[in-house]
Amino acid sequence: MADFILVLDEGTTSTRAMLFASDGVMVASAQEELTQHYPQAGWVEHDAREIWDKTLDCANAVIPKAGGAAAIAGIGITNQRETVIAWDRETGEPLTRAIVWQDRRTAPQCEKLREEGHEEEIQRRTGLLCDPYFSGTKMRWMLDNVPAVKTAADAGTLAFGTVESWLVFKLSGGAAHVSDATNASRTMLMDLQGEGFDPGLCEMLDVPHRALPQVIDTQGALAETQKSLFGRAIPITGIAGDQQAATIGQACLEPGETKATFGTGAFVLTNQGGDVPRSANRLLSTVLCQTGGERQYAIEGSVFVAGSLVQWLRDSLGIVEVARETEALARSISDTGGVTIVPALAGLGAPHWRAEARGVITGLSFASGKAELARAALEAMAHQAHDLATAFAADGTRWQTLRIDGGMSANDWMAQDLADMLDIPVERPDFVETTALGAAMLAATGAGLYESLAEAAENMRGARRCFEPAMDRSARDERLARWHKALAAA
Ligand code: G3P
Repeated sequence: MADFILVLDEGTTSTRAMLFASDGVMVASAQEELTQHYPQAGWVEHDAREIWDKTLDCANAVIPKAGGAAAIAGIGITNQRETVIAWDRETGEPLTRAIVWQDRRTAPQCEKLREEGHEEEIQRRTGLLCDPYFSGTKMRWMLDNVPAVKTAADAGTLAFGTVESWLVFKLSGGAAHVSDATNASRTMLMDLQGEGFDPGLCEMLDVPHRALPQVIDTQGALAETQKSLFGRAIPITGIAGDQQAATIGQACLEPGETKATFGTGAFVLTNQGGDVPRSANRLLSTVLCQTGGERQYAIEGSVFVAGSLVQWLRDSLGIVEVARETEALARSISDTGGVTIVPALAGLGAPHWRAEARGVITGLSFASGKAELARAALEAMAHQAHDLATAFAADGTRWQTLRIDGGMSANDWMAQDLADMLDIPVERPDFVETTALGAAMLAATGAGLYESLAEAAENMRGARRCFEPAMDRSARDERLARWHKALAAA
């Protein structure tokens, strides 16, 4: 019986294929790093061809572990969101490098939209703010600056899409040009109450509607792979942006339930049920999942730098050789001696939204060394989360517990520090790859292995560990005062 789920997890720094059994146990995985291109300060690009080639390699590496394609009930796709790919529908080839979500090059366009008074409408209709993070202005930038994109648009062969859209196009041999509602809701081109991409919003951003994909559900019979790829047409039965997938993987299926994923960035989502949520505190409203056209929504706080800060300590400063050394360094001292890091290396996201902000390290003295910097980097995670908690609470959502996941959450010191600084229990699953698990849950439900996401969650989620808060108030207040002072300098 076909009851394995193949998950394709397209992160910002790597591409992975994972094979899940129907009880949620990951039985095989393959991973390849993605090349990061930084052509100018503030620019980040990926090669879409590399994404596709590596996806195929990884999928081919794990499918035999299931006993072949016939044993796979469905494919789940989850991906770095907002990143834009432009390709030619006829050749199936990318027309330029993908512009990654972290890329800040369209800050001037966003400023212009704000000056022209469009921000209120954008926020009301899309749930987003005028920031280069989102896909719409990246598409416009390509049309204005890449002749091949403009030529394809004029010829009617241009296809735009986010990463899942590109992969489904390639997997289906060009048969499907689709985007699931979670990814579509990150483009600035979809009205949260509307069905597909909105012609009025497309006009506002001057993006041709006909170049965009069809917006579809997150689970069900969504598309299928071209037979020649894996020897059999495998149904694609689940698709969601990585943060939405992680929210599902953490079983935040009821309003109020909240997760925080610490990957390249840190993203906190609270389930808000079936009504479009509205934030008055610069958080985002976004689609959590969609089935039969019915949507669940979430409020999101997006922090741009989390694990990438530790990566920077490792690769650019050489303070650690491997990321997990930061835990021992943080434990080796009782405090940072006043050192505070504001990780605005790619501007500041929620709730500040300051595209021009840059990172700062304050409080350095001759006593500051590797340990102080490593601990300050980890402390910054709880500081950023605290800013989000304040904004969520002001919007009426007070977190009761926080379910954390993502590679960086494996750091016990950071998990305890989050519980201490937020003053709430922090829960972490033993299997921290909840993004992939969530995509597996969507795909398993979409393939009919389970009747609902709730049933999939019951059967597929594993054990969890809880970190209880244990910090006194004055220590917390001292840390927050230090953080706010540093933030003002960013
Ligand atoms: O919105 C960007 C987000 O989807 C990237 O996720 O896992 O690469 O931090 P990640």
